[in-house]
Amino acid sequence: MAHDLFLAAQAAMAKAYAPYSKFPVGAALRTADGKIFSGANIEVASYPEGWCAETTALGHYIMGGGGEITEIAVTAERMARITPCGGCRQRLAEFARPDTKLFLCDESGVVETVTMGAMLPYGFAGDILK
Ligand code: THU
Repeated sequence: MAHDLFLAAQAAMAKAYAPYSKFPVGAALRTADGKIFSGANIEVASYPEGWCAETTALGHYIMGGGGEITEIAVTAERMARITPCGGCRQRLAEFARPDTKLFLCDESGVVETVTMGAMLPYGFAGDILK
């Protein structure tokens, strides 16, 4: 059920704090046990200090106990089919798997489904650092 995850991302987007870019984004992650963690972008007057919706969602996911991420949805009010930025692809890949589904959305729902592996091919994996 991709649409409920889109709705969670959309609800999160409504809470975005994006007074500078005026580009609200929402993200939602579903875990194998059925929990949904969501987040919005949060900007800061010192622009580089702001962060993305996916990053907020990951913070909620970790603080909520983590677990296996099965699906991710991302949506933006002003862009159909938004894709996560490069930094967020790396952050999501830290906790997701290459076959984890990523739903790219427009204002009314999922328009394309891709995998994390397709979003971040040849990504840096930290296994050797552990
Ligand atoms: N943004 C996200 O929240 N996620 C992305 O994957 C791309 C960009 C936010 C960051 C910033 O607040 C605004 O979009 C414009 O770049």
